Amino acid sequence: MKEKIVPLLVIGALIMGVFLLFSGGSKRQSAAVDVKIPVLSASATSGQAIFKINCSQCHGPSAGGTKQGPPLVHKYYEPNHHADGAFYRAATMGVRAHHWGFGNMPPIRTVTTQDLSKIIAFVRELQKANGIF
Ligand code: HEC
Repeated sequence: MKEKIVPLLVIGALIMGVFLLFSGGSKRQSAAVDVKIPVLSASATSGQAIFKINCSQCHGPSAGGTKQGPPLVHKYYEPNHHADGAFYRAATMGVRAHHWGFGNMPPIRTVTTQDLSKIIAFVRELQKANGIF
């Protein structure tokens, strides 16, 4: 009887090991939040489209965050903490990781100053509708 249990235990331990390996490997930080999308102004609506193309890969289509980047609808980014200048700076110079564990944000050279003002309108309207102001 004993001879049968030992190999079973070994197999069991191996399966556990493989399981832990895989579940650990996908345990990347995700701070994603659910974002309520309000009725947007014209400027914010075009900002939404520009954001989707240039920023959503990391920040999510409605700035709720992904596994690659943080939510911008977050109290860290309320206007008093990160004023509009932080958005222009982020896009032109990139951002060194400091608040999160996602790594640095590269400069996003595909957006113009006008694009950014529309993106800011979009993010600020989302923040306001989600209690961040
Ligand atoms: C390749 C991924 C990536 C893309 C694309 C990206 N970001 Fe970021 N962004 C990040 C990460 C990561 C951080 C957080 C850095 C930290 O504080 O740890 C960040 C932070 C920011 C911040 C906060 C800046 C600060 O001063 O702390 C702003 C604002 C921002 N992003 C705006 C944008 C906008 C607007 C776009 C599109 C034009 C964009 N991001 C595209 C990854 C990205």
